[in-house]
Amino acid sequence: MTHELAPAVGLPAPTAAEGQSLASSSSEGRDWWRDAVIYQVYVRSFADSDGDGIGDLRGATERLPHLAELGVDAVWLTPFYASPQADGGYDVADYRAVDPLFGDLADADDLVRTAHELGLRVIVDVVPNHTSDQHPWFLAALADPDPEGARRRYHFRPGKGAQGELPPNDWESVFGGPAWTRTPDGAWYLHLFAPEQPDLNWDDQEVHEEFDSVLRFWLDLGVDGFRIDVAHGMVKAAGMPDIGHGEQASLIGSQTLPFFDQDGVHEIHRGWRRLLDSYPGERIGVAEAWAPSAERLALYVRPDELHQAFNFQFLRCPWEPAAMRSVIDESLAATASVGAPTTWVLSNHDVVRHPTRYGGGAQGLRRARAAALLMLALPGSTYIYQGEELGLPEVTDLPSEVRQDPAFFRAAGQDGFRDGCRVPIPWTAKGPSYGFGEGGSWLPQPAEWGALSVAAQTGDPLSTLELYRSALALRRQLPGGPMRWLPGPDGLLVLARNGLVCTLNTTASTVELPTPGRLLISSDAMDQPGDTARIPADSCAWWAI
Ligand code: GLC
Repeated sequence: MTHELAPAVGLPAPTAAEGQSLASSSSEGRDWWRDAVIYQVYVRSFADSDGDGIGDLRGATERLPHLAELGVDAVWLTPFYASPQADGGYDVADYRAVDPLFGDLADADDLVRTAHELGLRVIVDVVPNHTSDQHPWFLAALADPDPEGARRRYHFRPGKGAQGELPPNDWESVFGGPAWTRTPDGAWYLHLFAPEQPDLNWDDQEVHEEFDSVLRFWLDLGVDGFRIDVAHGMVKAAGMPDIGHGEQASLIGSQTLPFFDQDGVHEIHRGWRRLLDSYPGERIGVAEAWAPSAERLALYVRPDELHQAFNFQFLRCPWEPAAMRSVIDESLAATASVGAPTTWVLSNHDVVRHPTRYGGGAQGLRRARAAALLMLALPGSTYIYQGEELGLPEVTDLPSEVRQDPAFFRAAGQDGFRDGCRVPIPWTAKGPSYGFGEGGSWLPQPAEWGALSVAAQTGDPLSTLELYRSALALRRQLPGGPMRWLPGPDGLLVLARNGLVCTLNTTASTVELPTPGRLLISSDAMDQPGDTARIPADSCAWWAI
């Protein structure tokens, strides 16, 4: 049966404000970040220039043309700073130095310059919630038991119990186990993540000054912004009250906890916004913030705070049309209330890759391709995680001895099992580590990955890589503007933006509709007998009207 679709013709004419392109307000334009597509490079797993099996900055620089060709606007690099690598570099020992694993400062400089020549902006990570336990400040704190001395920059507390043998409160680490570790002199220090990641005390003025200086260091080198790690964590509730129950990590992002999303963090972000605004060229701050609601998350992107925040509600949304529709509506409404762009993200280095989350195998890939077209049709800015453009699934059978995620080795916390999304990506069909480098790769790549490589997919119109390339190219050309929903049959999401209709079939069967317009792109082969379109199961299409 052919379902009726409300006529797309007759949509209101675009207003002047809507007359911007669906995507990229252009690399030169003002507010470039409002609809930018930003590609996440997990440096360790992107490209290895020296054959040691670990990706590095030179490798990334050499591969930047791939990203320019893909059609993204900016690159976000995960931490490449000097670090003992207890948590993939999110344990920083020197915020102004490049870890020798990844190269040196000249390589960072070269990467930024090459990216700019290619018209790509560069965002780097900053990790302000905690340092490495090898940071000079923490080494000094361990060496001097005076609570008013070097320890004031962290959270040191006496323990509870007769001998101080119990942690100061009941907080749990995100990676599992208690959030406190005892030092040999008997004091306890707070670490919301691994013990090698002691939390900084943001009540200390020197901590503020140091991070201002670190941000300036990288801004002076030319970076276009920062992804702020654990942007919701720097301020802890006064008195550090007990929570009263366990399983705390499972509540992150749905409930208020005394160590996350405290109101005080916003003053820090306001200070950073002033700093960013003092540089030319619209440098941006992106919050990795876990907040209990879209409204709480929107507070991070008020006009005097950060520019964007990752939309983890979208990432977490199941393949279910009502849930998808409401998460889109809530995200758009919450960010509109503060005048910020919404962001869309499906995968990153901390979560199971979305083809696997969506059921894995052929079905998971179909849904992932459809979700990508949906995401790229929505108003706002989009994040793509390296390898997602290749349709890479999660690697689920890594042996324990190769795993490096600290969460794997502790009681399963929220972020456990993250190595499977960090396997180095394949560039060529054959060769050592499928073109990742001349040597091996720090995590083993599945044998099927040669067929998923950039080289194998290039030029194949049915490949996921070409789907992303075409969609990104179209996104640049299409007029943008706000979206609205059109009515459609059960299980079909139909949205319209100025000149575009996007149809997503979330059901397991083909749905037949009157042809909504001229087919621009679809995630699966589309039959169009007569005036109808047969939208396949788990597929998405864009139509020009
Ligand atoms: C963020 C990072 C994650 C890291 C954690 C602690 O969530 O994305 O990889 O483990 O912060 O820094």
